[in-house]
Amino acid sequence: MEDQAEKLREMMRKKNTGNSGPLRESPRVGRTKARIITVTSGKGGVGKTNVSVNMALAYARLGKRVVVMDADLGLANVNVMLNMIPKWNLYHVIRKQKTMKEIMVDTEYGISIVAGASGFSKIANLSLEERQSFINELDSLSNADIIIIDSGAGVSDNVLDFVAAADDAVIVTTPEPTAITDAYGIIKIIATEIDSLNMGLKLVVNRVKSYAEARKVADRMTSIAGQFLNLKVEYLGCIFDDPTVSQAVLRQKPFMVIDPKCKASQCVQHIVGRMEKSEARESGGFSGMMKRLFSRSQE
Ligand SMILES: Nc1ncnc2c1ncn2[C@@H]1O[C@H](COP(=O)(O)OP(=O)(O)OP(=O)(O)O)[C@@H](O)[C@H]1O
Ligand SMILES: [Mg+2]
Repeated sequence: MEDQAEKLREMMRKKNTGNSGPLRESPRVGRTKARIITVTSGKGGVGKTNVSVNMALAYARLGKRVVVMDADLGLANVNVMLNMIPKWNLYHVIRKQKTMKEIMVDTEYGISIVAGASGFSKIANLSLEERQSFINELDSLSNADIIIIDSGAGVSDNVLDFVAAADDAVIVTTPEPTAITDAYGIIKIIATEIDSLNMGLKLVVNRVKSYAEARKVADRMTSIAGQFLNLKVEYLGCIFDDPTVSQAVLRQKPFMVIDPKCKASQCVQHIVGRMEKSEARESGGFSGMMKRLFSRSQE
């Protein structure tokens, strides 16, 4: 069965991208059960960390056990956003001074975090083995339902391998043309470098002024991805440009905590609702994957 799946993947990959070179396979050896969601973007500063942390809170409100891993190893900021200064972070795991279990910390918000290794540019590029062991360790130790990985922006091996490890890659953009162009850039690289048929590619449009503006951006992105990359990108939803977000960042608390009813919080809850629906639709293990493959090839 696995052989058959691999053949199909190879066939689809050639059809989709013309790329017959090696693709990044998911490194989830011996995975347990957590759903891994990697949040990424083309351009920096578009809202990845806010999306990661507040999605985690929205999941926690649904009763899920959630861990957020800050995998932005140059400029880690999940802990800053939560006003926490964990004693240990991924740097110590990389240096083999601590285990993943020892650096994982609970927060007052009902989620756990793994702090990134801010300010250590020398270790910004992990080895493939290190990235794989992070994810596997996290999965087996955390007992989590959901692992959200706040990856860095742009294209690096770190980001791509964390995307490859995910069940879902959530690409964040704003309506700015530069952000859209860079988001398309990362989608294109995902299409050519990652065996993405087995994962959900999702789009969140952040800092919008209206639903119409968001829809326009999403339509453009999803149709270009479909047309030129033969890639299905699902529009998950938008987040309004909301002054509560910057207030929350200044107060070092998630906006979902500052005001669970503000526009941004409502949007994030809606996005998590969509994620839940798409999980129900997409799950089904191997047969689900085969169905997805066949439905794609008939499109
Ligand atoms: N929906 C929003 N409404 C208003 N301001 C926002 C919104 N989303 C993000 N911002 C602003 O953008 C800033 C950057 O957000 P964030 O740190 O989440 O981006 P990022 O993609 O993680 O950045 P980096 O690439 O540097 O890691 C926030 O500090 C906040 O001021
Ligand atoms: Mg960030």
